[in-house]
Amino acid sequence: MNKKGFHLAPAASIRLNRRKCVCGIETVIFLCVFLFSLSANAQERVKNVSFHDGMVVCATPDAAKVGLDILKKGGNAVDAAVAVQFALAVTHPEAGNIGGGGFMVYRSARGESNTLDFREKAPAGASKNMYLDSAGNVIPDMSIATHKASGVPGSVDGMVEAYNKYGKLKWVELVQPAIDLAHNGFKITKRLASDLNRNRAQFVKLNTGKSYLLKDSDWKEGDLLVQEDLAKTLIQIRDKKREGFYAGTVADLLVSEMKNGAGLISKADLENYHSVWRKAITGNYKGYKIITMPPPSSGGIALLQLLHAVEKYPLHRWGYNQDSTVQLMVEAERRVYADRSKYLGDPDFYKVPVDSLLNPVYLDARMKSFNWNTATPSTSIEPGNFAGYESDQTTHYSIVDKEGNAVAITTTLNDSFGSKIFVGGAGFLLNNEMDDFSAKPGVPNMFGLVGGKANSIQPGKRMLSSMTPTIIEKKGKLFMVVGTPGGSTIITSVFQTILNVIEFDQDMQQAVDSKRFHHQWLPDVVYQEKDAFSSSTQTKLEQKGYKVVEHGPSGRVDAILVNKAGYLEGGADPRGDDTKLGW
Ligand code: GLY
Repeated sequence: MNKKGFHLAPAASIRLNRRKCVCGIETVIFLCVFLFSLSANAQERVKNVSFHDGMVVCATPDAAKVGLDILKKGGNAVDAAVAVQFALAVTHPEAGNIGGGGFMVYRSARGESNTLDFREKAPAGASKNMYLDSAGNVIPDMSIATHKASGVPGSVDGMVEAYNKYGKLKWVELVQPAIDLAHNGFKITKRLASDLNRNRAQFVKLNTGKSYLLKDSDWKEGDLLVQEDLAKTLIQIRDKKREGFYAGTVADLLVSEMKNGAGLISKADLENYHSVWRKAITGNYKGYKIITMPPPSSGGIALLQLLHAVEKYPLHRWGYNQDSTVQLMVEAERRVYADRSKYLGDPDFYKVPVDSLLNPVYLDARMKSFNWNTATPSTSIEPGNFAGYESDQTTHYSIVDKEGNAVAITTTLNDSFGSKIFVGGAGFLLNNEMDDFSAKPGVPNMFGLVGGKANSIQPGKRMLSSMTPTIIEKKGKLFMVVGTPGGSTIITSVFQTILNVIEFDQDMQQAVDSKRFHHQWLPDVVYQEKDAFSSSTQTKLEQKGYKVVEHGPSGRVDAILVNKAGYLEGGADPRGDDTKLGW
């Protein structure tokens, strides 16, 4: 064990050394396998392989390789994160981005934690009722698929800030791999081909300029995707860092694109955009320290509320997705999402009552109305009251470096491919993050989430998020790095993944693979992934009044665990092209 708590001997080679070679043919086969594994530089996408020198788990194989190469060059977790962010902007256009925003949770090998908020902001020209018609009704799709749907992007500033504070390698080394991927192209996966084909009509409808994501015939798995305009934009960022995006040619192109659709982002909005370092919020669950994202994410507070609500119950004895386990978790989720709708927003504009929301006395009182015999109807649950209070698509990556520094970043364009509007000539997609604001109290956004004053639109304000990048410590040492995309389901997916490991003894990959369920107060429905519940669990829940509805895959959790033996073990979500690479 080295001083960071990681074992120094590679797990794979230990296993190989134990293997006895008893006959000739076995020896030859064994050596072939061994040499093959060496030739692959110990980079493996297979299950249950653990590493000691670093690990990257993210949404695409190409971006994971970029991150691992940076770690191997001596870069730290933040260096690798910057390189992965830009590589995802090229290889995962659904959500990887330079035109969106996100959050980073960081924990150094020495145990210091920090978070960076590079969430998009409402442009100065935005206003509370900007998505309402003259009768006061929300105009469908205006906050989703128009030039007015975009917040001022934060990702590039976020990467520069993170790098300036923690980066070690040269900035150009971190951006160049993405430029190469954009310029030389990369082979697209079956999933990306199908995502591109499915969105073709929208791309054509919403754009006037050339897009490298469009071609005359359908995309097929293995096609080479070259993005010359994006490569040029990335070169500006490589050479001028922040100024390469928020000023000069790229800023000019972005503002001129806004004019194509009465969009609001101005040169001044770009110049004025700055990400913010915020103190992590922390909590405890059965001795594990949870380090997570504060507002404007709702995710961190909600996660801590959920963990507190279930902590005193014997989940381990009840078991994974058994009826008591599910009932308790659903009732906690119902109450937590009700709180989210009222109290969570941008702390720079709205006094989020963090301490009250996390007060154990308040949280225990919230669960008092829970009745084992019957589902609590959501209509009977209001956001809580406490004394003294005045009134699918995102992506996540987890990285650990050789020293034991850890990064959890969740970043987003909001919807898949954001607003689906490209900045003409600059080759990147714009977010539609403005839909994460509450356009009108009580009217659900695209994720069915409702909100009010705390999350109303104001110029310069950040829209509320559910992104929940999280790092967990056990006995003062790194234990887990976790997060996921998935809109409103982000919080519940992270919650379940953590419980899968801590309560249900699943390894990291199992915990990520395991079927998930979700409840968000409104609508009053328990969504389950196909076969998440056994028929007996489902029947018992339905008999108590729970409405169980099957829905598609929930989230794409990418996580790293320091396992009992002290090795790094990855969980890459099989619901996507997600990849884990280590060394
Ligand atoms: N755009 C999804 C979220 O931030 O929660």
